[in-house]
Amino acid sequence: MLIAPSILTADMLELKDAVDNLKAAGADMLHLDVMDGNFVPNISFGFPVIESLRKHTDMVLDTHLMIDKPHRYIEKFAKISDYVGFHYEAGSPVKETLLKIKECGAKSCLTIKPATAPQEIFEFLPLCDMVLVMSVEPGFGGQSFMENSLDKLKVLKSEIKRRDLSVLLEIDGGINDKTAPLAAKAGADILVVGSYLFNAKDLKATLLDLKKL
Ligand code: DX5
Ligand code: ZN
Repeated sequence: MLIAPSILTADMLELKDAVDNLKAAGADMLHLDVMDGNFVPNISFGFPVIESLRKHTDMVLDTHLMIDKPHRYIEKFAKISDYVGFHYEAGSPVKETLLKIKECGAKSCLTIKPATAPQEIFEFLPLCDMVLVMSVEPGFGGQSFMENSLDKLKVLKSEIKRRDLSVLLEIDGGINDKTAPLAAKAGADILVVGSYLFNAKDLKATLLDLKKL
């Protein structure tokens, strides 16, 4: 299992140390939650933080855009991220935005909120390097895992297999020692983990346990 710690709950003044510790502990990528106060009722961070991270680390940067009409900002995010993910529900032309991400040299990720049926994005799967299933309402860390996301992972996994596509499945929200094995069983390839890791007493051991799934 690949683990993508979300730095949303990190202390931004201590970010450099947090990233170095995550890398040393074996994290596979960094999940970066960008929020605009419109698409979600919260505001996090944007270009300056990701630019600084890009300069500081060679870790894979997985940017999760929770912003309205994300197609307006693809070029800049693609330049400083490895994966650029945006929401199907965010008001951008989906096909064009996925193509734009790839054109700009990043990997594309399409994300769905808890109320969106996975079948709605089937037609876009060939243009996705990754699909992100939200297992909480986007906007805040520390929420409880929504079980309906497991069925969505299963449905997406079987469609990806049926069409012999190479699309990674990522799940985000409420992942901990109880929910991670369920997500793994349902077909997740990457777990985004926020508060559970940042509250862990032993970061390395906690990460290792998740990676073993
Ligand atoms: C929520 C974000 C998540 C969040 C996960 O909108 O997309 O990445 O940081 O945090 P936890 O793991 O605490 O649910
Ligand atoms: Zn996220």
